[in-house]
Amino acid sequence: MKKFINFIFSVKNADNHKVFTILGTKLKFRLKQNYNQMILDRENTIKELKDTIQQGQNYYNEMENTIKELKDTIDTKINQLNRENKQIKEKISGINSSQIQINKKIKRITQKATLEQFEIHITNHCNLNCKSCTHWAPLAEKFFISIEDFTKDMERMNFLTGGGMEVKRIFLLGGEPLLHPNLYELIKIARNLFKLTDIYLVTNGILILSQKEEFWNMLKEYKIRLTPTYYPIDVDYDKIEKTCKEKGILYKEFANRNGNTYWKHPIDLEGKQNPTDNFINCWVANWCVTLKKGKLYTCTNPPHIEHFNKYFNKNVEVTDRDCIDIYKTDNLQEILNFLSKPIPFCRYCNVKNRSEHETWAISKKDISEWT
Ligand SMILES: C[S@@+](CC[C@H](N)C(=O)[O-])C[C@H]1O[C@@H](n2cnc3c(N)ncnc32)[C@H](O)[C@@H]1O
Ligand code: SF4
Ligand code: SF4
Repeated sequence: MKKFINFIFSVKNADNHKVFTILGTKLKFRLKQNYNQMILDRENTIKELKDTIQQGQNYYNEMENTIKELKDTIDTKINQLNRENKQIKEKISGINSSQIQINKKIKRITQKATLEQFEIHITNHCNLNCKSCTHWAPLAEKFFISIEDFTKDMERMNFLTGGGMEVKRIFLLGGEPLLHPNLYELIKIARNLFKLTDIYLVTNGILILSQKEEFWNMLKEYKIRLTPTYYPIDVDYDKIEKTCKEKGILYKEFANRNGNTYWKHPIDLEGKQNPTDNFINCWVANWCVTLKKGKLYTCTNPPHIEHFNKYFNKNVEVTDRDCIDIYKTDNLQEILNFLSKPIPFCRYCNVKNRSEHETWAISKKDISEWT
């Protein structure tokens, strides 16, 4: 019976449908039920895939957050390290600059091996008269050093310094040195006595470009270094430099006072400052060594304060202990030792209240420029 039924009617499962055979004739019937199952399967697969993608996305987001956190942590660390490096660098530069300051202080109070340099006023007055001039030129009366006095002191300096061999630099200045009527003569004397010394003619430049050919010839013949200070005035300093180059004349810009680089070095009229502290902290000390009327000074203040005293009727006192008489010693070592020590006059210098950033101006000859 079963065989008979199978003979006339059989059912087989195919991929996505069933095949009915009736009396050998194959009939295909798509079964809705199977399709539903397939859709369900596919939907499940899609859902699974979506879940996988979502998991991936979640994982990705998590990773992104972790990376961001890591980046933030690293950035914070880098910033912290940079800040610390900056602080360390500041400390190092602080240590370096205080080391430099200490070296300078030690240098001031250390006797030099030779008299490296000295300066001498050949005039006291000036044709520019800058505010707070540290040589008090605006207050000075007209003065030209005499050839005799200049020769005498320069010969003595030559004698004391092994025939001038121990002096590297001499500065001829003032006041304004180009005002001196016997400038050429003075230069000749200086050169003959100091054959190997670099001799600087320090000038505000006002009179340079109106000089005759003779002036330039004289600078060249005596190997004098023309040394202008640049001021914000109507002088063509570039032309001066160019002329020196063209004529083969030694040249050096002494200082550029075009900016706010002007100083005010106040005097304490009561003289209540600590001389040793002042000397140690004073950049002029044992550097701007000044020769005046047979005496050597460690700086420019005691030799030139006379102009201030006279003009304002003050008595900022200068004594014999503020200088060393070049005719009372033959010993250069004694001189060098003297120049490296504080002097009584140091009590009048208000070194800690010095300013180095004043704006240049013409002097009104007011005492406040120097106090
Ligand atoms: C006293 S001047 C004499 C030479 C010439 N008159 C000159 O000005 O070059 C020598 C140097 O001292 C500088 N000096 C004098 N007083 C100064 C101040 N208050 N501030 C800055 N520099 C000053 C001048 O600028 C110049 O370079
Ligand atoms: S130019 Fe100025 S700094 Fe030079 S001596 Fe004259 S007043 Fe002083
Ligand atoms: S007298 Fe004044 S300018 Fe001279 S070394 Fe002493 S502190 Fe410096």
